Amino acid sequence: MIVALNNKSNLSKEEFINYVEELKKINTNSTLILCPTFINIGLVDGILLGSQNVSKFDDGAYTGEISAKDLKSYNVKYSIVGHSERRNYQKETNEDIKLKLIKLIENDITPILCIGESKEERDNNTYKEVLKEELSILDDIEKDIIIAYEPIWSIGTGIIPTNEEIIEVFNLIKSICPNDKVLYGGSANNDNIDTLKQIDLIDGYLLGGLSLKPDKLEEFLNKLN
Ligand code: PGA
Repeated sequence: MIVALNNKSNLSKEEFINYVEELKKINTNSTLILCPTFINIGLVDGILLGSQNVSKFDDGAYTGEISAKDLKSYNVKYSIVGHSERRNYQKETNEDIKLKLIKLIENDITPILCIGESKEERDNNTYKEVLKEELSILDDIEKDIIIAYEPIWSIGTGIIPTNEEIIEVFNLIKSICPNDKVLYGGSANNDNIDTLKQIDLIDGYLLGGLSLKPDKLEEFLNKLN
């Protein structure tokens, strides 16, 4: 299983150093990908690294941006792109996300493309169209990537879809992108992992809140072993 740890905008320097020490003690068969804040990336050694975002531009006059080339120089192997929090708060569009994807692939960084529908889109039954639209940016991309299905209404809410709902979406994703690994993200935790792990289609998890608690994370990983 692939387990990507999305620290989001959390863990100051000392907190992060202690956190990494705790993470390193965990014994697991899963592949852990740690996605810290940009400022913590340089502090990581001995754990597979991902970033939470990347610039859509190359190096240059783009104040505040971090390019894929610079991430690569810090040994970043994966990058989350299109997280719903960025689509929502930074108004990132599918076009922006495609540009980012291309920069990552050019720099040998595997994108973890987040897709997911809102509660309203789920309720009015337009979610499949939304997901297909989000996946359409992969139409002319040859490289295998990782896709994370994260229903927006599940992120940080404690509410997860039913297994039937997840299976329906995973089948849709895998019919469009048969070679890509697909993760589930959104309130995955120790209370629901026994139910989630009944779904064979799930290749791994993208964890937000749980990523910040190494003891609880260890329990989660033990259940996956
Ligand atoms: P959560 O976040 O696990 O806290 O719901 C997942 C994510 O946003 O990647």
